[in-house]
Amino acid sequence: EEKLNIINLTELEAKAKAIIPQGGFGYIRGGSEDEWTLRENSNAFEHAQIVPRSLTDMENPSTETNVFGLNLKTPIMMAPTAAQGLAHAQGEKDTAKGVAAVGGLMAQSTYSSTSIADTAAAGNGAPQFFQLYMSKDWDFNEHLLDEAKKAGVKGIILTVDATIDGYREEDMRNNFQFPIPMANLSEYSDGDGKGKGIAEIYASAAQKISGKDVERIASYTDLPVIVKGIESPDDAMLAIGSGAQGIYVSNHGGRQLNGGPASFDVLPAVAKAVNHRVPIIFDSGVRRGSHVFKALASGADLVAMGRPVIYGLALGGALGVQSVFETLNDELKIDMQLAGTQTIEDVKRAQLLHIHY
Ligand code: FNR
Repeated sequence: EEKLNIINLTELEAKAKAIIPQGGFGYIRGGSEDEWTLRENSNAFEHAQIVPRSLTDMENPSTETNVFGLNLKTPIMMAPTAAQGLAHAQGEKDTAKGVAAVGGLMAQSTYSSTSIADTAAAGNGAPQFFQLYMSKDWDFNEHLLDEAKKAGVKGIILTVDATIDGYREEDMRNNFQFPIPMANLSEYSDGDGKGKGIAEIYASAAQKISGKDVERIASYTDLPVIVKGIESPDDAMLAIGSGAQGIYVSNHGGRQLNGGPASFDVLPAVAKAVNHRVPIIFDSGVRRGSHVFKALASGADLVAMGRPVIYGLALGGALGVQSVFETLNDELKIDMQLAGTQTIEDVKRAQLLHIHY
């Protein structure tokens, strides 16, 4: 395997489609209902513009940043995504290697194809978070939190926007069922997920969730708990009031509530409510360095991606993942230079224009 020759991240989808089996590709690419929100996620970055700055006497911008006490070479992180074995035999282990190679942060999913310990070990000391889908079975939640702690994971992402699975038509068309087991579920009474559809998988997860649950998880673990799937200032305030030490603005890549706004369009209001009390992670629709820039300038501290990384994994394993992050980080650096921003802190202070063309 070698590095991928990537012109832009959007082009990866068609290339990955040619090599990932149809059901798995549909599950990865798809959104809910007619996918309006999925499309809008990327389109919405056009609602804000970066003003060029030239007479700044600066060169070589740096993308290094420190968030959650972690020194990172890039503010671009890997979103937690399930079942990466659909894309590549090494699954999350290769994703972990690729992300480690760029000095980034990876989040593992509860529904990973490889175990928490194996994925952590593949990261070779690079920081990782673990994403928890809260189960109805609290022993199981505690078991996963214990495993994460033992594996040296640095933070817990609690996903709250998937108490039921979105209406995913592509999976219905393909009658999609996971052809591979989910490593973290193997000792779980309902089985390892192999041969099940996503709706059946989510059925064993909690079907309602509140601030009390956030509190219970935050008091059980001494790792920071970051609540993912926040799109409203009210939910952000409830999460922080319940002990969240980070807010993760996301609409799950347009896979849950179709008809909801683009994640980018709600970021400023959530950031205003959070008011720097805790760091903000942002995702959904990020495909360009300029998208990363705009999200940082709108209140995000870290910007995550899902699908493009999975496509890179499918196309080139660990080196493919590395190539995806390098391509986007290089784009970000060009944008930083042309906007007269030397550091990520400068980007966060940049003023965007908001003109709807
Ligand atoms: C996801 N996402 C997700 N989120 C989560 O908290 N736990 C999970 O297990 C998964 N699984 C998952 C699988 C696949 C195939 C995709 C595409 C997404 C959502 C993910 O974390 C993130 O919010 C989106 O992927 C961001 O949108 P983009 O970057 O894919 O547009």
